Amino acid sequence: MTKNTKYFTTPIYYVNAQPHIGHAYTSIVTDIATRFHKMCNHETYFLTGTDEHGDKIVQAAENQGTTPQKYVDKISALFQNLLPELNISNNDFIRTTNPEHIKVVEQMLSKIYESGDIYFSSYEGLYCVGCERFYQERELVNGKCPDHNIEPKKVKESNYFFSMSKYQTWLIDHINNNPDFIRPKQYKNEILSFLKEPLEDLCISRPKSRLTWGITLPFDREYVTYVWFDALVNYISGLGFPDGELFNKFWNTAEHFVAKDIIKPHGIYWPTMLKAAGIDIYQHLNVHGFWNIEGNKMSKSIGNVADPSEIIERYGLDQFRYFLAREMTFGLDANFTEKTLVARINSDLANDLGNLLSRVLAMVQRYFEGSIPLPDKKIENKDNISLKGHADICITTFKEKMENIEFHKGTAAIWDFISVMNKYIDTNAPWTLAKDEAQKSKLETVLYNLVEGLRVVSSLIYPIMPDTSATMQKAMGLESKNNDGMFLIDEISCWGQIKGGKESGIKLDKPPILFPRIDVSPK
Ligand code: MSP
Repeated sequence: MTKNTKYFTTPIYYVNAQPHIGHAYTSIVTDIATRFHKMCNHETYFLTGTDEHGDKIVQAAENQGTTPQKYVDKISALFQNLLPELNISNNDFIRTTNPEHIKVVEQMLSKIYESGDIYFSSYEGLYCVGCERFYQERELVNGKCPDHNIEPKKVKESNYFFSMSKYQTWLIDHINNNPDFIRPKQYKNEILSFLKEPLEDLCISRPKSRLTWGITLPFDREYVTYVWFDALVNYISGLGFPDGELFNKFWNTAEHFVAKDIIKPHGIYWPTMLKAAGIDIYQHLNVHGFWNIEGNKMSKSIGNVADPSEIIERYGLDQFRYFLAREMTFGLDANFTEKTLVARINSDLANDLGNLLSRVLAMVQRYFEGSIPLPDKKIENKDNISLKGHADICITTFKEKMENIEFHKGTAAIWDFISVMNKYIDTNAPWTLAKDEAQKSKLETVLYNLVEGLRVVSSLIYPIMPDTSATMQKAMGLESKNNDGMFLIDEISCWGQIKGGKESGIKLDKPPILFPRIDVSPK
């Protein structure tokens, strides 16, 4: 039987600034989704990369006294080097200056031009240099670009236009017929409300007199293409469009992950471009909110841009990944503060999970010399349905929430189960059972169940905290196929997989400290 496939993408990031926590979030949340789908036995492909053309690059390169190519090589490398630091499992990294990508953009342009959906016309409009696009009067706030808070310049030019308006009705129908095409639904509504007004055609060229750092139009060498027409195409050029094996296999299962700043290009330009070129439409546009820092919008001028490498160095990678997954309700804005990060590390990670693992494994050491005891089936049936039952609820909830891109709720479901396990220890008080020989079977069963529960936890945290997942499993003598912590979700739910008893030959070492507590006492 062939496996279902799933294709995941992040936006390709502009190289006019260094990577920050916002980019790290999108990459991590896309990685979490990809790893989760691997657990569902899907064959996945994950693409990320950098967007390297446009006015802003030329300016940034000039400011640094270098050429655009040298400049993009340098910043793109920063984005690329960050990926292993974040433990991102991408299959490829695309750059829009790659010759293969450029070829596909040319093909797309030619295809749409030949079909008659690109035309030449003179245009006068309001152009924002920051956004590199024309604005309509009604989109401005007090006459200024809402993103850059500057007045756009009046620019008159002859340019090429994509007949986007022609596809307005089709797009509205597509969104209505596929209710979760753009999700969560507030973003679908935002796009639909934008589509209530007549859609204008999209200017897709820039004269070379104004911009040279771009892809030349195949049908007019005096022009380069608009940066969005170039950038969006990465999602198919990265799969080897038009006839690459990856394209055939993965394209129609595409899951794009972006933040709310770029829903218009993804929710309007991109599907209409695909439609005009006769290419299938992607499956979902998954939109998240913005990270603010200590309550403020991140900005270079405020100097509050959070550097993911610094956070990871100080607090640890899985701590950072956990915080991002848990703290942001997918779709809404969230606030990053060191205080909340530290509070989550100390309470959820060090106290709830870290302590649970070390308490349970320490008891296996103390009472059974490191061999996981075997459960007594009779006691198990009578007393311990609850832990297995809670594990089942946890797995079902986790799966449902993760499928539904509610990563914060999927993560919280695991912690609900962790809390049940901590209570289970307190209720059963293994230290009291250990004092009474008559309670030996009960002690064995309680500890076995706890290790089983930890197995479930270690497997479910895999997409969010892959390193911790593998470390926990090693500590319990559990081996996944590639020793990376990944078990199929359907395998996880089968209770009783931990090999217990002396005959298993498994002897546990001293439990590891998963998450050192962060000292918050005043210095
Ligand atoms: N190059 C375009 C995307 C082209 S995709 C075909 C671009 N690049 S960007 O560098 O500005 O990246 C924007 C994306 O970065 C957002 O959509 C989001 O994924 C991420 N973030 C940037 N700032 C962010 C926050 N403050 N919070 C969360 N994510 C944010 O747009």
